[in-house]
This record gives sequence, structure tokens and C-alpha cells, in this order.
Amino acid sequence: MKITKITGIGHYVPENVVTNADMEKIMDTSDEWITTRTGIKERRHVVDETTSDLGVKAAEKALIMARIDPKDIDLIIFSTISSDHYFPGCATQIQDRMGMKNIGAFDLKAACSGFIYGLSVADQFIKSGVHERILLVGAEAQSVAIKFDSEHRDLAVLFGDGAGAVVLQPSDDDTGVLSTHLHSDGSHVEDLWMPAPGSSFRPFISKEIIDDEMHIPYMNGREVFKNASIRFPEVIQEALKHNNLALEDIKLIIPHQANLRISQMVAKRLGVALEKIYSNIHRYGNTTAASIPIAMSEALDEGKFSQGDTIILAAFGSGFTWASAAIKW
Ligand code: UT7
Repeated sequence: MKITKITGIGHYVPENVVTNADMEKIMDTSDEWITTRTGIKERRHVVDETTSDLGVKAAEKALIMARIDPKDIDLIIFSTISSDHYFPGCATQIQDRMGMKNIGAFDLKAACSGFIYGLSVADQFIKSGVHERILLVGAEAQSVAIKFDSEHRDLAVLFGDGAGAVVLQPSDDDTGVLSTHLHSDGSHVEDLWMPAPGSSFRPFISKEIIDDEMHIPYMNGREVFKNASIRFPEVIQEALKHNNLALEDIKLIIPHQANLRISQMVAKRLGVALEKIYSNIHRYGNTTAASIPIAMSEALDEGKFSQGDTIILAAFGSGFTWASAAIKW
């Protein structure tokens, strides 16, 4: 059975940089609070781009690295919680815009774990021989849904926009995706969610929904933090155990960029140096499904890992969902 290899990777972030100083001007917050509580210094916000715009730009870079013509891609998986429209998803939009054939294309909504969930789905298709050239995108333009005022300052300073993409193909050696592990606990749905629009509401859209701000994301930050600090180390250990690997065998851990303090907690709980846990949250904030492919793409560019190294991806987010992947590059 062939294993799945990442043959191309790329990322794209909108040009518009929003610094902590910019946030200070529009809400009751401070650079000091944001930096010490989250590690974030700036993030990118779309001006007139959509999620699929960001996805196309990241995908183009991944395809160039993989030396694959868009016409040869045979499946698109687009992980996002901020698709351009309620339906259909972004995947079919990029199929058309990138000139791909009439291949399968679908969106995957697993929030911050969306990229690893997508990687796991793609891995099954490749291992089973059903598909041979899959494009997986993680992209978000979530600043559009957030309210930038003092009442919503917890979420407002945390989230950012961006996209990352990979091309997945069967490996011709022993390098590639070694394992993926997926988990969920739906008893925490309301700890990080955007309730509307949805089938829970009659009528679907109403003045009440808007007055009650059901269309704006809500987060129970402390509960998310507490669970993330437990689940990240747990799912990383699961990946290690499954592959008979020790932490010393891992060149780099690339976590979903949720909060620098969560990464510090994970490093402490695993007993590894913080340098082994990649972070670029200071530049982009939390970009949900895009954060892991952006981080992986930047870490590769920076030479933090290279051919033959084993890395672990790990994510935690809304749902709750959490996941890990072990990859021999
Ligand atoms: O990808 C998964 C998605 N989310 C996460 O991973 C987030 C996980 N949670 C967190 O990162 C943290 O809980 C936050 C960064 C969101 C908040 O940090 P915290 O240390 O847990 O703060 P807190 O919620 O306990 O709030 C402490 C204080 C509160 O003021 P009072 O009630 O003590 O007066 C907040 O109102 O900090 C206040 N606060 C802020 N102050 C300045 C909340 N947001 C801000 C802000 N600026 N932006």
C-alpha cells in the first residue's frame, strides 16, 4: 500500500496588516495584554478578498512546488469555517477558477482541526488508490464575521485571515503521512461557536438573531484553553505511540496556532523545549483551518525541517475537535 506524500505546499496571507496598536485605537485593549496573554503582535485582515480568493493563491503556490498542472488534480478538499457563501462550499469555486476538470470537490468544516481532518481524508483516498493528486486547502476570511469593539475584544484580537494548501500524491519511498488521529467532544459545542445562520432558527434569518448577536462568534476562552492544554499533548503522544517514536525522534511539532501560552503549556506537559514547537502566531494570530498549512509552509521555508525529518502536526478547536498527524518529510 502506497503512503501519502506532500509534494507541494504554499501559503498566502492578505496584505492588510492589523497591529495591536491598531486594535488599541478601536477597542479597550492594549499591546501589553494581547502580547502577554496570546503572543500575538499582528494579524492579517482581508479588505475585499474572499476565502476562496485566499485559497486559490495558496493553491497556486502548492501546485507550482509539486509541478502539477491544475488539470491533473483529481480531488479538492477545502477546509474552512468561513466559506464565501452559506452554500455551496469554496471547493467547487476554486475548481472552476483554477481550470480543473469536473473532479470531486467538497468543503470540510472541522474548524481549527480542519486541515488535519482533511489530510486524514485525503490520506485514505490515496492509500486506497482511489485518487492520486489531491489538492487540500485550509483557508479563512473570518475577520468579516467578527465585531471589532470592546465587548468582543477577546475574539477580535485573536483571529486572523489567511490560507495554506498542499498537494498530496502517492509516495514512491517510505516518506509521507505516517498516521492521523481524529477526535471530537460535542458536549462543548457552545464553548466556541457561531450559532446562526442555521437550521436551529425559525425564521432562518431574523432581527432577533441580529439583535442577540447569534451571527457573531462566541468563545468561552478559559474552557477552550483548559481543554486545549490537555488535548494537544494527549493527541501528540497518541501519534508518537502509534508510530513507536520518542519525542527525540521528532524534528518539529507544528501545532495549530491558537495561543502562544497554549504552546508553552504543551511544551511543559510534554517535557520538550519550546523551540521544538513551531510558532508564527505573533505574525498572523489564529487563522483556524489555515494555521497549520501556513505554519508548515513557513517552517519549511525557514529550514526548520527538511527531507527525512519526522514532524508532528496537532490541532484543537471548535466542536470540540482535536487531531494529530505524523509525517516523515
Ligand atoms: O483555536 C482555538 C480557539 N481559541 C483558543 O484557542 C483560545 C483559547 N483561550 C485563550 O487563548 C484565552 O482564554 C484568551 C486569550 C481568549 C483570554 O485569556 P485569559 O487569560 O483566559 O483571559 P480571561 O478570559 O480570563 O479574561 C481576563 C480578563 C477579563 O477581564 P476581567 O473580567 O478580569 O476584568 C477580560 O475581559 O481579560 C479581559 N480581556 C481583555 N482585556 C484586554 C479579554 N480580552 C481582552 C483584550 N484586551 N483583548
